[in-house]
Amino acid sequence: MTRILQFGSTGQLARELIARAPQGVVLTALSRAEADLSDPAACAEQVTAARPDLVVIAAAYTAVDRAETDREGAFRVNAEAPGAMARAAADVGAAVVHISTDYVFDGAGARPYAETDTPSPLSVYGAAKLAGEQAVLDANPRAAVIRTAALISPHGRNFATTMLGLAREGRPIAVVEDQFASPTAAGDLADFILATAPGWAAAQAGSRVFGLTHYASSGAASWREIAHAILGDAFGDQAPKVAATTAAARAAPARRPDRAILDTGRLTEVFAVTPRPWREAVAEVVRALAPEQAATA
Ligand SMILES: NC(=O)c1ccc[n+]([C@@H]2O[C@H](COP(=O)([O-])OP(=O)(O)OC[C@H]3O[C@@H](n4cnc5c(N)ncnc54)[C@H](OP(=O)(O)O)[C@@H]3O)[C@@H](O)[C@H]2O)c1
Repeated sequence: MTRILQFGSTGQLARELIARAPQGVVLTALSRAEADLSDPAACAEQVTAARPDLVVIAAAYTAVDRAETDREGAFRVNAEAPGAMARAAADVGAAVVHISTDYVFDGAGARPYAETDTPSPLSVYGAAKLAGEQAVLDANPRAAVIRTAALISPHGRNFATTMLGLAREGRPIAVVEDQFASPTAAGDLADFILATAPGWAAAQAGSRVFGLTHYASSGAASWREIAHAILGDAFGDQAPKVAATTAAARAAPARRPDRAILDTGRLTEVFAVTPRPWREAVAEVVRALAPEQAATA
C-alpha cells in the first residue's frame, strides 16, 4: 500500500489524480483551505504530521499573467512552499513528486528540450517554477520533478474548455498561430504518476526514477491548429472559424515561449512510458466535454 499526501484538490491534475487512484494507493488530497501554499511552514507541518510514503505537489500558482505583478506571491507558492514540503518529506523518509512546466524554457531552441538543456524562463511564473524545481531537488534526494505542458482536461479553465465556451456563446475566436504546444491530458499524467507512485515510494536516493523528467503528449501544433482540432471534434461541419492572430498582437502581460516542446526520451528510457500523440489526447478530452456533438461529428 502506498500512502500519498497530495497538495491540491481542485486543479485539473489534482482532480484526475483523485478520480484515478487505484487500489493499493491511499490518496489524501488537501484543499487550499486545508493547506495554503502561501504559508510554506504550515504546509511543511502537514507533511510532518501525515508521515506519508509519497508527497505529490499538484497545487501551484498557475495564473501566468497575474504572476507578472505578484512576483512575491508566485515565488512563495511555486518555490518556497514546494522546497519546505520537500524538506519536511525528507525528514520523515517520504519521497516527493513535484510538477513543473515547459515555461522554464524560452522556446527559442530549434529542437525539443531535454532535461539536460539549460532553462531560461521568459515570465515570472516560469522563473518561480524553475526556482521551485531547484528547491525541491536540493531539499530531498528522493524527489522527482515532472515537467509537463499545456494541460487539458474536462475540468476547470484550460484551452479546451475555453474554446468550447467561446463557441457555445457564439463569440469570435482568434488564436495565435506563431506559438506551438503539445496538449497533454491531465488524466494521462495522473495515470503515469499513480502507476509509478509505488516505485518512487520504494526507490533509494540515487535511483534514476528521481530527478527531472519530461512528460508531454508527442508531437506539437500551433495553438490555432489545436483550436481547429478541438472545435472540429466537438462540432464537426458546424465548427466555428478560428481567425489567426500572433503573440505580439495578443500582447499578454506574460511572455510565453514560442516553441517549448519537451523531449520525452528520458521518460521512455527510465519509466518505459511513451505518451500518446496530442491529437488523441484532445479527442478524448473533447469526447468528455461535448459527448453529443463529438458523437455526431
Ligand atoms: N495547466 C497547464 O497548462 C500546465 C502546463 C505545464 C505545467 N503545469 C503545472 O502542472 C501543475 C498542475 O496544474 P493544473 O493545470 O492542474 O493547475 P490548475 O488547474 O490551474 O489548478 C491549480 C491548483 O492549485 C491550487 N492553488 C493555487 N494557489 C494555491 C495556494 N496558495 N494554496 C493551495 N492551493 C493553491 C488551486 O486551488 P484553488 O482551486 O483553491 O484555486 C488549484 O487546485 C502545476 O504545477 C502547474 O504549474 C500546468
